[in-house]
Amino acid sequence: MRAYSQVIPVLTIARLLGLPEDRKDDLARWSQAMVAMYHAGRSRAIEVAAAEASTAFSGFLRAYVDERRAHPADDLITGLIEVEEAGDRLSTDELIATCILLLNAGNLAAVHAIGNGVKTLLTHGGPRDWLSPQKRDGTIEELLRFDPPLHMFTRRAYERIEVMGHVFEPGDEVGVLLAAASRDPGPWEDPDLFNPARPHKPHLAFSLGLHFCVGAPLARMEMQIALPILFDRVPGLRLVEPAHYADTYHFHGLDALMVTR
Ligand code: HEM
Repeated sequence: MRAYSQVIPVLTIARLLGLPEDRKDDLARWSQAMVAMYHAGRSRAIEVAAAEASTAFSGFLRAYVDERRAHPADDLITGLIEVEEAGDRLSTDELIATCILLLNAGNLAAVHAIGNGVKTLLTHGGPRDWLSPQKRDGTIEELLRFDPPLHMFTRRAYERIEVMGHVFEPGDEVGVLLAAASRDPGPWEDPDLFNPARPHKPHLAFSLGLHFCVGAPLARMEMQIALPILFDRVPGLRLVEPAHYADTYHFHGLDALMVTR
């Protein structure tokens, strides 16, 4: 995980936003500390660490936004500043919050999508020709359906509503089980089988509707590029220990994947 899966997403977002790549360790650390708020077993220490990370991250970005105002560049932060200055779209605080959201939402989900993807391929006899240019995209979609890094989001009913015979009262919380829906034996034949050749059908790894993942095209691209490169460069990659899933709540991802070549 440390050697590959954790490196790519943070570098990708740093480059996209135009943040210096040599701060990638800080960016990853801040994002992990803030996202830990969503994990099970949240403690006072985790909350304090998240607050400290958010202060440090905001301070860093504020200085960076000032720097980009003085010296515009070909990056997303400059683009967001220009939108802000052309109208009344983004205040500096909104700009900072948007950058933090992009990093926090885009980093660990992609880390675990790559980790789970490598694990699934290795536990199914290696990638064979599944990552060839013709089959790659279908394989990535099947990896995301089969072992997505995010299993559940929640929604709250704002008003009384009846859905399929069930009445939700205002304030009721609904657990939207995205990963379970992608294994629904109704629409999916042999849902527990990893089958990259299955007919294309939309899965729910990126959710649906208003909150559909804004980073889905980027996440897909990261997997489409990163997985073939890994197996091209290390064709003999194999597992030396069973994969170990981390004991966290929000992400379904690995804390280690021990491999050899
Ligand atoms: C494979 C990797 C990824 C997965 C599985 C994933 C999954 C998701 C899911 C399930 C949601 C919906 C949450 C909901 O319904 O409430 C979401 C939202 C979001 N994702 Fe991703 N994501 C990934 C990568 C990324 C990346 C790379 C970025 C940005 C660079 C990103 C940015 C966002 C943002 C900003 C939202 C909030 C959208 C909104 O609420 O309107 N994600 N993602």
